[in-house]
Amino acid sequence: MRQAGRYQPEYRAIRAKVSFVELCKSPDLATEVTLLPVTQLGVDAAILFADILLILEPLGIGFEFTKGDGPHIAKPLRSRADIDAVSEQIHARDSLGYVMQIVKQVRAGLPAGVPLIGFAGAPFTLASYAIEGGGSRDYRITKQLMYSDEGLWNALMTKLTSAVIDYLNAQVEAGAQVLQVFDSWIGCLSPRDYVRYVQPHMKRLFAGLDKGVPHIHFGTGTATLLAHQLAAGGDVIGFDWRVELGPTWQSLGAKAVQGNLDPYLLLAPRDELKRRASDVLASAAGRPGHIFNLGHGIFPEASVDQVKALVDHVHEASAR
Ligand code: CP3
Repeated sequence: MRQAGRYQPEYRAIRAKVSFVELCKSPDLATEVTLLPVTQLGVDAAILFADILLILEPLGIGFEFTKGDGPHIAKPLRSRADIDAVSEQIHARDSLGYVMQIVKQVRAGLPAGVPLIGFAGAPFTLASYAIEGGGSRDYRITKQLMYSDEGLWNALMTKLTSAVIDYLNAQVEAGAQVLQVFDSWIGCLSPRDYVRYVQPHMKRLFAGLDKGVPHIHFGTGTATLLAHQLAAGGDVIGFDWRVELGPTWQSLGAKAVQGNLDPYLLLAPRDELKRRASDVLASAAGRPGHIFNLGHGIFPEASVDQVKALVDHVHEASAR
């Protein structure tokens, strides 16, 4: 999940001085923000402060964040010429060297026993931003390209996959101890289309990752896709709140799972939040290999006190 962000007053204070992209590209500030949830909330792991869209810059696609509107791609990919122009090689160690610098600084600043999670967007989720030009509700233009020119779709997915492998392995080289692949918007596809248009690329992606660290395969809206995601790869599969954790884990046969509280339970009264977190833990029933998490990121309206109460409750309840 996203654990640092606008719900934290300290984050907002930094953002009052620099833009989001400036923050991502300032190793000292990004390191400070990465460490914030560790010191403030006592979470078990740190997640690198970055964004899945940073990789679009060395790919030659580019992006910007417009105030209040989220990500925007000025020249979205729509034609063969657009996709031909996407870089074959991004040389992430250099082109995204500022991310590697943040990884190194965070590792130096983390207490022993708190691992650093590096991450990247998955090819489908990245393609959806690059093609739509920003966020989308229906992924209409993405699907139009995918369904009308499978060869062109695969050409784009191949380039994105190669770039993500290079980027994630460079993060491990810099010191990341876990890798998480965010396929946040994959839930818009049918199982059949996932297998045809996405799974081969995800198999190549996971096969290409450094095997010295565990890999987390994250998605949302994936109740009908989980078995296909597991077959594509990852040591840990993310569940969102739309599935019942225990029985879904049982029938899937995954080694490890991550999830799956609805983030908006942070808006419920404290007792209800705790009860519902306990329900997730009860569903996992102490089986080894459960990483308690929200099913998606923390939203700006969440309160730090509620998030801290959740973390404390999960620690107390799982120590029993
Ligand atoms: O916890 C952490 O420190 C890691 C932070 C993190 C961010 N983005 C920071 C961020 C992570 C893991 C991401 C990944 C990311 N980015 C994903 C995959 C995870 C998910 O949530 O599904 C996606 C889809 C994106 C793309 C993205 N970045 C969107 C859609 C937005 C706009 C969100 C919004 O609420 O407006 C962003 C911006 C973004 N990324 C912010 C942060 C803290 C807010 C930017 C700001 O300060 O204005």
